Amino acid sequence: MEIKSIILAAGKGTRMKSDTPKVLHKIFEKPLLGYVLDNVGNITTEDFVIVGHHAEEVSDFVNKNYKNAKTVLQSPQLGTGHAVSMVCPSLESYKGQVLILCGDTPLIREETLKAFIEYHNSKESDLTVMSTIFENPTNYGRIIRDNDDSLKCIVEEKDATQEQKAVKEVNAGIYILNWDKIRPAFSQLTSNNAQGEYYLTDIIAWGKKENLNVNAYILENSDEIYGINSRKNLAEATRIMNERKLSNLMDNGITIVDPTSTWISEDTEIGADTIIYPSTYIEGKNKIGKNCKIGPCAHLRGNVEISDNCKIGNFVEVKNSKIDHNTNAGHLSYIGDSELGANINIGAGTITANYNPITKVKSKTVMKDNVKIGSNTVLVAPVTLEEGVNVGAGSVITKDIQSWALALTRAPLRVLADWVKNSK
Ligand code: UD1
Ligand code: CA
Repeated sequence: MEIKSIILAAGKGTRMKSDTPKVLHKIFEKPLLGYVLDNVGNITTEDFVIVGHHAEEVSDFVNKNYKNAKTVLQSPQLGTGHAVSMVCPSLESYKGQVLILCGDTPLIREETLKAFIEYHNSKESDLTVMSTIFENPTNYGRIIRDNDDSLKCIVEEKDATQEQKAVKEVNAGIYILNWDKIRPAFSQLTSNNAQGEYYLTDIIAWGKKENLNVNAYILENSDEIYGINSRKNLAEATRIMNERKLSNLMDNGITIVDPTSTWISEDTEIGADTIIYPSTYIEGKNKIGKNCKIGPCAHLRGNVEISDNCKIGNFVEVKNSKIDHNTNAGHLSYIGDSELGANINIGAGTITANYNPITKVKSKTVMKDNVKIGSNTVLVAPVTLEEGVNVGAGSVITKDIQSWALALTRAPLRVLADWVKNSK
């Protein structure tokens, strides 16, 4: 059945204490909302993002990066149920399913969502909510079950009795519903509760009242629904995401010398037998080949493609660049907006000067196969070094160099015999 998603992202995120809307705070340079949209992308045909607080900034991000997503304004923000009701006019005659998630829950995996949907379908459910067990359930909505264990309702922390507060099964904030069955609920919700809000969670009790088939799917790995409400949560989510990524890489034949000091984004692919040395930070989307050595203390900043058998060593920063096989940049270099061929050696302290701060233009550096760059070279982009070019140490290269030439811009060495002795 067709699935569309609704992603709630209109809330304020007060506890972040930030001018940036909560869902645009980043993990490995990708906004939280980006994780959620990426994870539903392969499941849904269309995604509605509910925006409100800082609506313009959030909409900008969505519209620039996600073709299948639409933003829907919720103003004022009267609660999660009210938020979903904003989409009702757009889905008047829709007969498929709707997956509802929150924009501040970046750790949920596509596989988990698929299993959740499969459960919903196998139970022939009309409405399924994802739940999980928390030792400390404070602040979450509690899943209340009947004596026969069937789902009864969800009670928010602020509305819960002492007895209900003791319940450890909580609402993960993710729902799948058969839209035509549940849609009438959204015009019947009331704000008769402790927060005076229209609660999305009330659709459970509504479904029961309407004799619909309502179920809860218990998620075992509760890490996945970890929500971001504060800077501490953001750091913790980054740690969980990183740990998950490193473990996955190690399972696939990549050596991580020190998992406690290595940071690798979810969107980085790495080939087998590559070794990542300590204190390496890899953010954004990257592809690293087989048999490479990265770090210690390397920084890959996204959109980096490195082929097999390459070395990116100590204090080397690479951004938006393509590097072909057997190419080495061992020490203290910056490679930005560059295209490097195969069998290149980049000497220590080489800089691609890609940015003109006056015109604010970024330009490209191209090196063809077998180029050798002497230490402490500055390549002022745009510049192309054809095949086999050698650059003498300490040079500043400002124009294209033809194949197999030696290029150097070096003041002649002067040796003044006995100068030191005579100066005394
Ligand atoms: C909600 C659930 C709670 C669940 C928890 C899981 C309700 C009433 N409660 O509580 O049962 O355990 O999530 O994380 O749904 N939002 C809007 N518009 C609004 C209000 C909120 O778009 O008017 C968005 C927020 O930006 C956020 C999401 O909805 O992304 C959840 O809202 P939040 O206020 O964080 O709800 P919780 O109190 O965490
Ligand atoms: Ca929340």
